[in-house]
Amino acid sequence: SAKTVTILPAGVSFDVKPGQSVLEAGLSHGYAMPHSCTVGTCGSCKCKLAEGKIKELTDFAYVLEADELQSGIILTCQSALKSDVTLNIPNFELKQLHPPEDYDGKITKTENLTHDTKKVSILLDRPIWFDAGQYVQLEVEEGLAARSYSFALPPAEDGCREIELFIRQVPGGEFTGMLFDGKLDGKSVKVHGPSGNFWLRDGKGPIICVGGGSGLAPIVSLLEQAAKSPLGRPCIMLFGARTQEDLYCLERIEEIAAKWDGAFTFVPVLSNEPEGSGWTGHTGFVNTVIEQVAAQHLSNETQVYLCGPPPMIDAVTDTVLKLGIVSENIHADKFLDAS
Ligand code: FES
Repeated sequence: SAKTVTILPAGVSFDVKPGQSVLEAGLSHGYAMPHSCTVGTCGSCKCKLAEGKIKELTDFAYVLEADELQSGIILTCQSALKSDVTLNIPNFELKQLHPPEDYDGKITKTENLTHDTKKVSILLDRPIWFDAGQYVQLEVEEGLAARSYSFALPPAEDGCREIELFIRQVPGGEFTGMLFDGKLDGKSVKVHGPSGNFWLRDGKGPIICVGGGSGLAPIVSLLEQAAKSPLGRPCIMLFGARTQEDLYCLERIEEIAAKWDGAFTFVPVLSNEPEGSGWTGHTGFVNTVIEQVAAQHLSNETQVYLCGPPPMIDAVTDTVLKLGIVSENIHADKFLDAS
């Protein structure tokens, strides 16, 4: 029979079915469980077992240090329950999310955003509700592994029947290859979601958003949603790209800036713009210009939202930690460009 998990200090309790992981159960109830990989490799679901017994679904010793194992640290994604348990998760955020579900979808439209990035529209069998910044998993029916992509539009009040994703072509990638050859137009896809703990947190401090490559989708979605209400928080948005040709969504960003209540600064940063192109903006990598462009917005209330390839996220995280941003206020959506 089902056993119960209680999370302290939040005081939240939910049932876990036999054989289900604690993480899976928590997510199915709409709780913002800390996690990333879901398969026992990243360690981001670590927490302390305060009371009760669990069953390891895979060996924790691959990820956890000996002293962590000793002191009762577990991975929620790899723990089923043998008894009712109490877990200690100090940074557990009390946020009600829309539980993920399976949807049948159909690719209805693809449109070029840049030479290697497409906007893909998918019509679902019924509306989906989500928070701006979250993602879905896509499974095309050709037997390829599922891929994760963020919603590129903010949520609608009545849910979204049609969703939009930004998909970047990966050289040699099987799925994106088919998509860019037009072989997936009109095809059925399985959609699972919404997922992810990337959403705009409450607060009064400045917001710094950094997007790289196709990592712009959740940032634009989140800012469009935020621009609907007067938050009174300054915002700086950095967009890291290779060349001017790789910049996209510029009209949408302009609209966000026009609607934003207070100061909104958009800073594109190009790493590979050819000499003599006439580009007068910033060059280099996003992390190297943050201090310069955000100097007056760095406080312990500043929140940072990052989405893009892992090396960019790691570099920016290092930089903002050095600039005094507290780690609880850094929210990252790391994606591996799915082939
Ligand atoms: Fe990555 Fe559990 S979510 S180890």
